[in-house]
Amino acid sequence: MLQRLPAIPENYFTVYYNLFTRSRLAPGETLLVHGGSSGIGLAAIQLAKACGATVITTAGTDEKCAFCESAGADKAVNYRTEDWPGIVREIAGKTKVDVVLDMVAGDYIQKNIDLLGRDGRYALIAFLGGSTAEVNFGKVMMNRLSISGSTLRPQSLDEKARIASDVEHTVWPMFENKTVRPHIHCTYPLKQAAQAHHLMMKGGGELPSTVTADYSVKMKRPTPTEKGKIHLVAKIVESTQDRATVEAELEADGKICATCVGTFVAVKPGHPAYHRW
Ligand SMILES: NC(=O)c1ccc[n+]([C@@H]2O[C@H](COP(=O)([O-])OP(=O)(O)OC[C@H]3O[C@@H](n4cnc5c(N)ncnc54)[C@H](OP(=O)(O)O)[C@@H]3O)[C@@H](O)[C@H]2O)c1
Repeated sequence: MLQRLPAIPENYFTVYYNLFTRSRLAPGETLLVHGGSSGIGLAAIQLAKACGATVITTAGTDEKCAFCESAGADKAVNYRTEDWPGIVREIAGKTKVDVVLDMVAGDYIQKNIDLLGRDGRYALIAFLGGSTAEVNFGKVMMNRLSISGSTLRPQSLDEKARIASDVEHTVWPMFENKTVRPHIHCTYPLKQAAQAHHLMMKGGGELPSTVTADYSVKMKRPTPTEKGKIHLVAKIVESTQDRATVEAELEADGKICATCVGTFVAVKPGHPAYHRW
């Protein structure tokens, strides 16, 4: 489990917050999530299935689609070779899609809006396909759609604490009983961190894309304070093509109860970027 820890905060916190806190995904509803084989996509497939939703996803190769379906997706569509909006429309049927979790945006925005049914919710978390689009808002009005956008890192400490606490109460038991598992595609010793980082940068190649270097992790199970509050501080200290330094701390009862500090680094000791261990 320790090796899987670095894959938790960014992916599962983001997905929990967007699917459940903001979009109120409910059992029996249909979710469309783009990029199903990504860290975010996989977390969304797992949590939505655990909630009892139908999950349709997109991915860029048949191999990745098979991976998404093996992870629980009801249907994964190859967006490079198939008519994904047509297939989603067919599967979702008359009631259409209830929630879209979108990291692509751009020309996907109108297609997603068209696929959403009455009272549908559209959560935007990234703009891999561009942040601008010409959109016909007629369907937003007629179908009473809600569009939301958010990003985890700039939120206040209180907001992050609330998300951490929600994940602690709702998702953590699923990690413990292994109904939900972060997927680590492969690990590298720290001295090969640059290769790990390059593989992540390559991203959309032939591989499912969750990669981690072996972090320095110290963890004991966080216990909620009397008010049920846990503070999470997680940040990328630095990220360039050659290095990325990440620090995360969980604080309960005013004490740090878990730390997760990782550096993907391609520089030598003594360099200003080689720090904070
Ligand atoms: N807002 C927030 O709070 C928040 C938090 C965490 C992450 N994010 C963002 O969310 C995104 C996903 O994060 P990640 O770490 O999971 O990324 P990742 O592992 O790098 O994956 C990116 C995914 O995007 C997919 N993709 C790219 N173009 C696509 C298209 N046209 N149609 C469908 N899928 C497409 C890729 O699919 P293929 O590889 O199959 O082509 C890939 O699975 C990143 O942009 C990240 O910055 C946002």
